[in-house]
Amino acid sequence: MTQTTQDADGRVAVGLLGLGTVGSGTITLLRRSAAEIERRCGARIEVRRALVRDLRRARSADAEAVPLTLEPKDILEDPQIQIVVELMGGLEPARTYVEAALCAGKHVVTANKALIAKHGSALFRVADEHGVTLSFEAAVGGGIPIIKTLRESLASNRIDQVIGIVNGTSNYILTEMAQGDASFETALAQAQALGYAEADPTFDVEGIDAAHKLSILAAIAFGAPITFDAVYTEGISHLTAVDIRFAHELGYRIKHLAIAIRHHEGIELRVHPTLVPAHRLMANVAGVMNAVFVRGDAIGEALLYGAGAGAAATASAVVADITDVMRVIEAEPRYRVPHLGFRAGAIEPQPLLPVSEVVTAYYLRLAVIDHPGALAEITRALADAGVSIESLRQLPPSEEGVATLVLLTHGVKEAQLDAALARIGQLDVVRERITRLRLHQFDE
Ligand code: NAP
Ligand code: HSE
Repeated sequence: MTQTTQDADGRVAVGLLGLGTVGSGTITLLRRSAAEIERRCGARIEVRRALVRDLRRARSADAEAVPLTLEPKDILEDPQIQIVVELMGGLEPARTYVEAALCAGKHVVTANKALIAKHGSALFRVADEHGVTLSFEAAVGGGIPIIKTLRESLASNRIDQVIGIVNGTSNYILTEMAQGDASFETALAQAQALGYAEADPTFDVEGIDAAHKLSILAAIAFGAPITFDAVYTEGISHLTAVDIRFAHELGYRIKHLAIAIRHHEGIELRVHPTLVPAHRLMANVAGVMNAVFVRGDAIGEALLYGAGAGAAATASAVVADITDVMRVIEAEPRYRVPHLGFRAGAIEPQPLLPVSEVVTAYYLRLAVIDHPGALAEITRALADAGVSIESLRQLPPSEEGVATLVLLTHGVKEAQLDAALARIGQLDVVRERITRLRLHQFDE
């Protein structure tokens, strides 16, 4: 275990793995806030080197000043470097490098949610074995201090709900589409140009990034292991402008929500587009902004809001983690906050509720042949499955005699809705695929 501190000149040496959007933002912020950091921690940070793939790639003016290397060992085996900041992304070689850094007794700060969601448990064990920390505030919610809040500030609470908009790219696209002036493809291209999207934007638009983040939040909120593979995941790529418009007309906004709810019988973990009443704060989180709603037995309801992606906001969290590490670098490991907020031995597997058991309300859109009895057949199938209709709207039929039906249901178990839709899908009067979106009122 290393317990080195600052050098004779009062500097702590840091090595960066990656110098892209977040890496460059981190360098800029470290430079700008050097005096503040020294006032807070009593030491200065020296970025000794950054690992990149391409030495010839153009960098920002601040990043240009950082010595570059193509050799991971120049950072992982440099005895002067005490803190390694992983901002490469992806699982490999990031996992191998992070593990090597921890084994070498270096503290690690990362913004890599995929890495923490998939390999966090194993890496936390390695960090504990070597008496170092693996910090990951930037992995969820960009600049929002949600990890520290759940892990430390709300430590007195039994938390039963964490529900958030946690992917800036999806929220940016949905906002642009809802305002009616951009297609899905144009909005995604803008989010990429602004540095919000993952290297593979499928992670953003198919909900995988939000699922990574939800699995991390749920583990910290409930003291459970990280279970990324158990998250029910739907993205926004199948959403149409038609449903965004109908939702508006009904008094809702469509948001991509990540939902973790603890019930007596188990935990539900799901990520999907969701109708949210337009008057709720969550419905009004726009653009790249993220928000995380937390419900605890002592605090009641709390909402954290802020920029969820982008160089500066993410760097805010990365640099905060670096300053935290600088403060605890000399502390006995047992006095540090555990990685997931609960002692490693106290993290308990908890039953997971399959999505078929989840109770929620729904928005349904159907294309139906406009002839007598059609509506009755549909409402009978819903009633037989125990699905109660909250409201129903029928739009005038097209020239071909096909009418659009938009229904909102009361809360019902997903398995019951599936049974009703399977029967409705067989009816001769129903044309096209049925659109089904979940709805969350934020009042349970
Ligand atoms: P990025 O712009 O693509 O930067 C990645 C950097 O890592 C580049 O400098 C790249 O080198 C380097 N790199 C990648 N693979 C490498 C390899 N195999 N060997 C050496 N260097 C390698 O990515 P980013 O947007 O900064 O994201 C970095 C991490 O932060 C990801 O885990 C991401 O999920 C997370 N994050 C991003 C945001 C955001 O808003 N962008 C927010 C929160 C968290 P070159 O420069 O030579 O190509
Ligand atoms: N691609 C991610 C997003 C970056 O859009 O939210 C922040 O984690």
